Amino acid sequence: MAKTATLTYGNQKIELPIIEGSEGELGIDITELRAKTGLITLDPAFGNTGACRSAITYIDGDKGILRYRGIPIEQLAENSTFIETAWLLIFGELPQRDQLRRFSQRLTVNAHLHEDFKHHFQGFPVNAPPMAMLSAMIGTLACFHTNLLHVEDAAVLEETAARIISKVRTIAAYSYRQSSGLPFIYPDPKLRYVANFLHMMFSMPYDQYVVDPDIEHALNMILILHADHEQNCSTSTVRVVGSSQANLFASASAGVSALWGPLHGGANVAVLEQLEQIHHGGLTPQQVIAKAKDKNDPFRLMGFGHRVYKNFDPRARILKTSADKVLAKLGVKDPLLDIAMKLEELALKDSYFVERKLYPNVDFYSGIIMKAIGIPVNMFTVMFAIGRMPGWIANWKEQFDDKTSRIARPRQIYTGPKLRDYLPMDKRN
Ligand code: ACO
Repeated sequence: MAKTATLTYGNQKIELPIIEGSEGELGIDITELRAKTGLITLDPAFGNTGACRSAITYIDGDKGILRYRGIPIEQLAENSTFIETAWLLIFGELPQRDQLRRFSQRLTVNAHLHEDFKHHFQGFPVNAPPMAMLSAMIGTLACFHTNLLHVEDAAVLEETAARIISKVRTIAAYSYRQSSGLPFIYPDPKLRYVANFLHMMFSMPYDQYVVDPDIEHALNMILILHADHEQNCSTSTVRVVGSSQANLFASASAGVSALWGPLHGGANVAVLEQLEQIHHGGLTPQQVIAKAKDKNDPFRLMGFGHRVYKNFDPRARILKTSADKVLAKLGVKDPLLDIAMKLEELALKDSYFVERKLYPNVDFYSGIIMKAIGIPVNMFTVMFAIGRMPGWIANWKEQFDDKTSRIARPRQIYTGPKLRDYLPMDKRN
């Protein structure tokens, strides 16, 4: 393979280096394009633009491959915990026993929020969207941890990461309690990460929620599977904000805002909303499948298909097994779950879906599992944010550690009016 690409424009020609990643991915390095030619590239939505070199996550959508730091997602889902996976993503290697113990202790110690946070929460109206509260409160952490705004060494980064990963879970649970008018439940230091979250979500004063180990395992898996997905919209947002040397709290808060949109983390909510519409509209699963196939109908089956994974979504494959287990264990009777399972069965053998490689994606099964566990639909994207936090931190750190990185500052092709004069009010028509 040639080591350069030749760009010809007008009667000029320049050579551009070709960069190769560790899995053989190739890219044309245009870092010096503007300096050498005065030209820029135009790539709306960055579909063809590599914005960084990264050693964190590898995806091959055609082959259904997702690896964190080289380790297949299937192995992590089977053997790891969310906290161990978080360490792997952020620091690059699986933790040694003492590293994991230290990190877990820092998470436990930092699970509480400053008491003044309660006043902040109480300032939100009941029914405030939990994602709005989450984003605001992660930004607010910066006010309570001013000693962590400048990451001077690895120890400060580790402490900041532990605080954010621990506190995002408490903030998430408090957001739910506030949006439901329920009393806040303090974290319990005896409980592990996911169990503690379930406790803060569902315990009542003097009535402790009993955590089922299978539910804890399923939720742990959902968090692992969401922990990173390379340069997606929210992670790119975190990098852009961090590139101005904004602190980790501000950058993570921006990540939550980016994740909120229905085209990103909000898709898991869309799956459940669609199931509700189907249920209330009285459509049968067969009619829904026919509607999704009808080219004159814009309707799409939410939770099916993926932009990157064209054969299967490896995360969905893992979660399907987990969903089957959780539903069987809980024996929940929910018409929405019945509709979902029937849609899955019909779509998997329908030639329209099979030919277009439209399989259920991660949002389909994560929504089903969370619904069965009793997590409210408006908390689904919040769960995604808890899961994605290690990925955001890992990307922020990778950029921070790269001493060659510069502030992100894309260019544009200007299409507005040419030079014209200011008109006084009485001359405008
Ligand atoms: N229901 C019905 N038909 C579909 C669906 C669907 N969910 N998804 C794609 N198709 C059809 C398209 O109509 C098109 O058919 P055609 O070739 O006859 O024109 C074909 O499949 C290819 O579709 P594209 O839109 O080109 O696929 P693309 O890769 O651009 O879109 C996307 C992927 C956006 C995820 C799409 O499948 C979709 O809208 N799915 C539903 C929404 C959803 O579940 N989003 C969550 C994604 S997972 C995540 O973000 C974590």
